[in-house]
Amino acid sequence: MTRKFNFCAGPASLPESVLEQAKAELSDWKGRGLSIMEMSHRSKEFVEVAARAEKDFRDLLNISDDYAVLFLQGGASLQFSAVPLNLLADKGIADYVHTGQWSIKAIKEAQRYGKVNVVANSEASNFSTIPAFETWQLDDNAAYLHYTPNETIGGVEFFWTPKVNVPLVADMSSTILSRPINVNDFGVIYAGAQKNIGPAGLTIVIVRKDLLGKSLPSCPIMLDYKTAADNDSMYNTPPTYAWYLAGLVFQWLKDLGGLGGMEEINKRKAEKLYSYIDGSGFYRNPVEKSCRSTMNIPFVLADENLDKPFLAGASEAGLLNLAGHRSVGGMRASIYNAVPEVAVDALVNYMKDFAKRNG
Ligand SMILES: Cc1ncc(COP(=O)(O)O)c(C=O)c1O
Repeated sequence: MTRKFNFCAGPASLPESVLEQAKAELSDWKGRGLSIMEMSHRSKEFVEVAARAEKDFRDLLNISDDYAVLFLQGGASLQFSAVPLNLLADKGIADYVHTGQWSIKAIKEAQRYGKVNVVANSEASNFSTIPAFETWQLDDNAAYLHYTPNETIGGVEFFWTPKVNVPLVADMSSTILSRPINVNDFGVIYAGAQKNIGPAGLTIVIVRKDLLGKSLPSCPIMLDYKTAADNDSMYNTPPTYAWYLAGLVFQWLKDLGGLGGMEEINKRKAEKLYSYIDGSGFYRNPVEKSCRSTMNIPFVLADENLDKPFLAGASEAGLLNLAGHRSVGGMRASIYNAVPEVAVDALVNYMKDFAKRNG
């Protein structure tokens, strides 16, 4: 079997070597005669796998002991609720930046628990820009500021970190581990795993320890960050297999030299695709250049009647999952860490050929 190139926005491509290792260990993990997914989460074996994964994740992002790392379930979407439930208590109001379809979901959920002050909104540009920080209407009394460093659907990414006096909360679902960040700038970082971390079913939260233990009285025990922090993310049964696989991805990243090296590769991949799109006269990316995502690259064709033949031809050429999000149409190439540079080369070659035949 030859593996195809998968440009899915999530669940996304996983490194082939990780899949091979998982396959080799699937039914008999390290000679124990059973799969890691059949073991108790409290077994010595699994506890070691879990601890190793956390250590490697901490190493990759240089996370200090001031932060807890939580391995949870429920996806990034459940964090839209967990964030206000854990952080809103004292103040009852939070600042949110609205830059697209994921931020609006976070905003709507927070409004169920308190007041939301939308500090900036890029709707007027159809979410193709990021409002300049100087224009943000911050509330002096806000409990935290929430933003979405990479809007997966719109393909809009922050290449700067807002500097505010309140805990900064970031939905990093589609950018985490794509490049180094300074975790110390943040109060809470959360991410669904199914892009750069591992398979769906796992959600990672990095939370500054001084923010623990302040949840709203109505916060469910399972959504209280302190519950997970006090129990090594094992208050109940965690998603053990996804946690194990994430650990393999972290080792793969470390073996590649960590996030600095990954960033270089990711920049090169994105630059290849954007520069071809911009020069093609046939394809177009709508996002302002200063905030074009390195991970998710939406584009439209000169004539939308060509969308179907484009996707059919791509699929035949082994280039999968290039349709844009159902809400926006067009195309989108998600080029996360595990999508190799040769996949981007193959995509550009296919796009060139398609444009020549149809332009
Ligand atoms: C930026 C962002 N936030 C949140 C989500 C929702 O994640 P989940 O499906 O894990 O709830 C996604 C999913 O693609 C996303 O890209």
